[in-house]
Amino acid sequence: MKREAIHRIKEISWLAGIAIIACGLSTAVYARAPVAAVGRILAIQSCSACHQVTDAQMPPGAVLNPDSLEQIRAPAFAQISAKYGKNTKSLRAFILAPRHPMREQKFLPHDLDAIVAYIRSLDRRH
Ligand code: HEC
Repeated sequence: MKREAIHRIKEISWLAGIAIIACGLSTAVYARAPVAAVGRILAIQSCSACHQVTDAQMPPGAVLNPDSLEQIRAPAFAQISAKYGKNTKSLRAFILAPRHPMREQKFLPHDLDAIVAYIRSLDRRH
């Protein structure tokens, strides 16, 4: 093969590499917002009976704890977000194995990812 042709192939593969990296970066940046948007919808469906999930939602009433017969108010998602911050591992663990009166939640893993992403997005410090 001629030197010029080899040079051309190198140039093309280098450009292709850049393009692939650029695509990866842009999806990494843009993927976050839609996931949180899906999580917001899922949270409104599954969590808003007890938690204030969005700023616009009226805070729901307290929930009866069947063990202690006390009324317990579920914290607003904005408070949960501030409490857990970047600690999504503990947040996930609580949602998968909650304390009463919050009941066990059953999720597909990507639904839980979306809900956790939504809660993270409410943390105004990040
Ligand atoms: C039946 C009512 C109910 C539903 C539905 C519910 N929760 Fe809760 N949740 C509670 C209550 C009450 C607490 C407070 C428990 C406590 O402090 O002992 C709580 C606590 C939490 C906490 C822990 C907050 C902390 O201070 O550590 C997280 C996280 C949480 N809920 C997430 C969720 C998510 C996500 C959903 C929906 C998928 C959900 N909850 C649905 C009632 C509920």
